[in-house]
Amino acid sequence: RTPLIVDVDTGIDDSLALLYLLARDDADIVAVLSTAGNVPTAQVANNNLAWLELCGRTDVEVAVGADGPLSAPLRTTEDTHGPQGIGYAILPTPTHRPSDRTATQAWVDLTRERPGEMVGLVTGPLTNLALAIRTDPGLPARLRRLVIMGGAFHHPGNTTPVAEWNISVDPEAAAEVFAAFSAVPVDRAPIVCGLDVTERIVLRPEHLRRLAELSGSTPAETIRSDDAPSTRSVTSNPVVRHLSDAVRFYFEFHRDHGQGFIAHMHDPFAAAVALDPDLAQYRPATVDVETEGRITRGQTVADWFGLWGRPPNARVAWDTDPDAFLDDLVGRVAAFAST
Ligand code: BDR
Ligand code: CA
Repeated sequence: RTPLIVDVDTGIDDSLALLYLLARDDADIVAVLSTAGNVPTAQVANNNLAWLELCGRTDVEVAVGADGPLSAPLRTTEDTHGPQGIGYAILPTPTHRPSDRTATQAWVDLTRERPGEMVGLVTGPLTNLALAIRTDPGLPARLRRLVIMGGAFHHPGNTTPVAEWNISVDPEAAAEVFAAFSAVPVDRAPIVCGLDVTERIVLRPEHLRRLAELSGSTPAETIRSDDAPSTRSVTSNPVVRHLSDAVRFYFEFHRDHGQGFIAHMHDPFAAAVALDPDLAQYRPATVDVETEGRITRGQTVADWFGLWGRPPNARVAWDTDPDAFLDDLVGRVAAFAST
């Protein structure tokens, strides 16, 4: 089983990433860390605790991360993910608590305890990891693998014309993390799943319907179509019901931004890559993050050709088979929900 440190800003698609990992027998989720991004870090930690408890996994450590970016003021995006970050879902209040150590300390401790073993997955801003590397510059070399959801390379941004959300919230943190990996061999460089690949992972209402059916939880008629009322789902299975309530909000957000009644599965895809790097094809690049630009702050700039004369510090995910992944996501989460 692959031991994972999962650093998230839960988040609707982060929620699905967590459920997907919980559904995978080959994933050993050692710690779930919260970072401020989609919603504030305390709310993220609460969401993580609530999903884990709903799934009977109170054994997994939840650690609270930094309150906000390294130097920029915190921005959150409740209009994308709902007032609590989980769309229309109202999860039971968790009864278990976050651990005593910070998310930053968890990165440091866990990679020291198991050097060369831990796989890191970051699906929010890179604040916690940047702070951990400041404390312990040897950390990058101790990770078996790091997968980051973030960035937009040949693809437009989703937060500014050139910047993707996770990088845009804390560009300084992202810049520090990429810089820290310049001394690591390219076969250990972070795998970066940017919008170029994650916006190709398009979840549709029929996927949710299939998920409900496969999990044996019917009826699911409120997961119907783009004119369905914004009421709560009526499926009998609690995991499917809460998930449907969360994702419907995400469908509506995408629809309201002219993308159709769909949802991009950014974070679940990165989660899958953390376990199966062969799921995508990559291009090595030297990635820098613009922190100064008047209109380009948060842009991820990839040097594909060694023009700067610096070694690659990233493997940028470039191609994948979206339908194969969506089938896997739906099938695994449905099977998990039915247990
Ligand atoms: C990223 O931004 C967040 O809102 C999502 O959870 C995802 O991690 C996509 O740009
Ligand atoms: Ca996220």
